[in-house]
Amino acid sequence: MKRNILILSAVLVFAAAIVYVLFLREKEVITPLTNSWDTPIPHQEVPANLASLKAEDCGACHKEHYEEWKLATHAHAWTDLQFQAELQKESSPFMCINCHIPLQNQQEFIVTGLINNDIYRPVKEKNPHFDPILRKEGITCASCHVRNGEIIGANGSKLAPHPVKKAPAMLDESLCIGCHNASAVITPTLACTFETGDEWKNGPFFGEKNCISCHMTEVERPLVAGYPARKSHRHWFTGSGIPKFDTVQTTVQNGLEFYPGELAGTLNRKDTVKFEFMLKNENAGHKVPSGDPERFILTTMTIENSKGGVFVADTFRIGEEWEWYPEAKKLSDNNMLPNEERVYEVKTKPLLPGEYKVKVKVTKHRLNKENAAYNKLGDNYPLFITIYDEEFPFKVSK
Ligand code: HEC
Ligand code: HEC
Ligand code: HEC
Ligand code: HEC
Ligand code: HEC
Repeated sequence: MKRNILILSAVLVFAAAIVYVLFLREKEVITPLTNSWDTPIPHQEVPANLASLKAEDCGACHKEHYEEWKLATHAHAWTDLQFQAELQKESSPFMCINCHIPLQNQQEFIVTGLINNDIYRPVKEKNPHFDPILRKEGITCASCHVRNGEIIGANGSKLAPHPVKKAPAMLDESLCIGCHNASAVITPTLACTFETGDEWKNGPFFGEKNCISCHMTEVERPLVAGYPARKSHRHWFTGSGIPKFDTVQTTVQNGLEFYPGELAGTLNRKDTVKFEFMLKNENAGHKVPSGDPERFILTTMTIENSKGGVFVADTFRIGEEWEWYPEAKKLSDNNMLPNEERVYEVKTKPLLPGEYKVKVKVTKHRLNKENAAYNKLGDNYPLFITIYDEEFPFKVSK
């Protein structure tokens, strides 16, 4: 009897499972990848006569290019603590890595499609050619320079020991824009909002200067020690210049120029104290800040007496503000367009006779303290740099 009940239950469970699989469960279909950033650059073989694709091996000959690239945030696009922290989050889909480690060789898995078009359910298989050391290099030499067993160059040198394909169009600004212009709402709470390319195309520098002429300064030098000097480009990819770790110092470019207003050295005790300070985005071919919406610039202006007593303190912010939940939404954006000017003012009613100063400080921030703490970046992760810090003394006479 007991045995029959057991058999009957087993049959029922089995039947229920079949009914579920055949009729109740949502059908799983594999959908193809459609967006450009869904797939990495396909697997690349090492060009003839080279030891590997690693930056260090290119650097054995192209020493200066290698030393410069090491200082670029491109070289830290994988190891960056903030990137690693964000990548671990459940809300980060598989394709986050495609611009940060853009070669298939750098990726542990090959993604061939999505289950039911769900970006959180990629169909993955192990990548037999995965190279973990190359992964650490982020946006490495081979990301931009290696295709189909050849080195992509703009000039087609005949002196190189490796095969060279002359393809200047593959190294023009469209290369940069491919990663630096991603504007898409991926899920309601996940939006990609880099429009550096569009900002440049719609701005005054289009046709004059481009990503490469501003971010890869031209120099005359041999490409390899002992070879003739040629037109070459620095590989620092200098940007905001806010370092990534306390150990990684990047080179700095500033978009803004500063124009302090006039201030009489001596004021009358009936005078209102007023000081104007102008910022102008003179040097960037796009907005300042650009790219990552977390960036912002603060200008703090104070009027103090000689004992440090503060009469006025104002802080002005340039940046975007976002709300991420329940839906990603931009709340405000006062980033400065190329050539845009902005004037800030501090003012106070007449002061008692004595010695005073106006202090102006401008800081450029990668992210705020709250987000750094949320991502557990530690106390040493540099959040900002100071790009202007001046004092303007004045007296109020008796
Ligand atoms: C054994 C030395 C050596 C190694 C290793 C090497 N190169 Fe070269 N490379 C050269 C020489 C030499 C030239 C030609 C220099 C000249 O024309 O003045 C050259 C030229 C180039 C050029 C310019 C091509 C053009 O259009 O004229 C690029 C880009 C380049 N190499 C990238 C790389 C990359 C990326 C790597 C690593 C994957 C690499 N090289 C590894 C020696 C080397
Ligand atoms: C494969 C994608 C990719 C390509 C191609 C690419 N970039 Fe980047 N770039 C990135 C990523 C990702 C970062 C951010 C790395 C980080 O902060 O960890 C970055 C960072 C930068 C920065 C530094 C931003 C800062 O201040 O922190 C500059 C400047 C820059 N890129 C310019 C360029 C230029 C110029 C080109 C074209 C020659 C280019 N990039 C090509 C993906 C790319
Ligand atoms: C983000 C893309 C990118 C990365 C990463 C990159 N390069 Fe380049 N490289 C370029 C561009 C763009 C040029 C300039 C092409 C031109 O002349 O218009 C260039 C030019 C060169 C040249 C030719 C001479 C010159 O300076 O113009 C050499 C050699 C070179 N790169 C080597 C390297 C090496 C070695 C690495 C890694 C350590 C590297 N590149 C990393 C984009 C890149
Ligand atoms: C006229 C020169 C110029 C041109 C053209 C230009 N940039 Fe910049 N870029 C700058 C300067 C200057 C900064 C530094 C802004 C700052 O932080 O003060 C900068 C900053 C950046 C940053 C860091 C973002 C930030 O807020 O600091 C990135 C990323 C970048 N540029 C990418 C690009 C790309 C991609 C292109 C081409 C579409 C491009 N730039 C064209 C001058 C230029
Ligand atoms: C289309 C290419 C692309 C994709 C896809 C992409 N990124 Fe980036 N990422 C960039 C570029 C370009 C920068 C540099 C932006 C700048 O400096 O203005 C960057 C910078 C970053 C930074 C550094 C910000 C800073 O200020 O230092 C983090 C963190 C980051 N990305 C995380 C992610 C995560 C998480 C995902 C997936 C949700 C992702 N990225 C997907 C291109 C991409």
